[in-house]
Amino acid sequence: MASREQRGSVRTAVVWDALESALADGPRDVVDLGGGTGGFAVRLAESGHRVRVVDPSPDALAALGRRSQEADLEVSGLQGDVTDLVDVVGAGSADVVLCHGVLEVVDPVLALDHIGQVLRPGGLVSLVVGQRHAAVLARAMAGNFPQARALLDGADPADGRTGHRFTVAEIENLLDAAGFTRTAMHGVRVFTDLVPAALVDIEPGAAAALVDLERAVAERPEYFHLAAQLHVLARRP
Ligand SMILES: C[S@@+](CC[C@H](N)C(=O)[O-])C[C@H]1O[C@@H](n2cnc3c(N)ncnc32)[C@H](O)[C@@H]1O
Repeated sequence: MASREQRGSVRTAVVWDALESALADGPRDVVDLGGGTGGFAVRLAESGHRVRVVDPSPDALAALGRRSQEADLEVSGLQGDVTDLVDVVGAGSADVVLCHGVLEVVDPVLALDHIGQVLRPGGLVSLVVGQRHAAVLARAMAGNFPQARALLDGADPADGRTGHRFTVAEIENLLDAAGFTRTAMHGVRVFTDLVPAALVDIEPGAAAALVDLERAVAERPEYFHLAAQLHVLARRP
């Protein structure tokens, strides 16, 4: 496996495990909000799901188009965002909404409200969000102590690129307030971002052993606070 691909699969293995098992019952109508270039969307389409990607970026949608064409798969790319999601895909039109790496840069209350509207009753949302305490640790380890301190107290990073980082309690409260029932939480990239990339790329068997370790801790709450991201599955009533 090429090392870039290898790193990608180490970073997403835990999310894929959970998604594949949640969607194992047959083809679903999936909306990938902020789905970007289609890393998740194309693979879900490969598994037979009907997938629509909603993203504000024309460049990302163009890349998605090329990617799905190369794979000979149909994935609709729709230009839109959190604010016009309901108009773009239609209310009650999805069994599953993916919202991976997006909640950090939008109004999360509005996003969950709109996601709830496009889901059918009992529909599933899959959220991936940046986890605050791993970001505090990363900044401290890089010597950026004032930034680490500010983030610890809940301030959003000053660079404006990475957006808001969530704590476990924060994401749980947001979902509860939006009326979703949480069904699973996973810590994602507990160790991966801390390990030198060269070790994973060069050492035979290291990537597989790291994935194995990530899987082993993914559902252990004591590791959630070390995870770079949290993955949460939740159902609307
Ligand atoms: C970090 S990328 C994540 C891409 C993909 N979901 C993934 O997990 O690989 C964030 C994506 O959110 C999109 N985005 C930015 N602002 C958005 C908004 N207001 N509503 C929906 N998507 C947005 C960006 O264009 C980008 O494709």
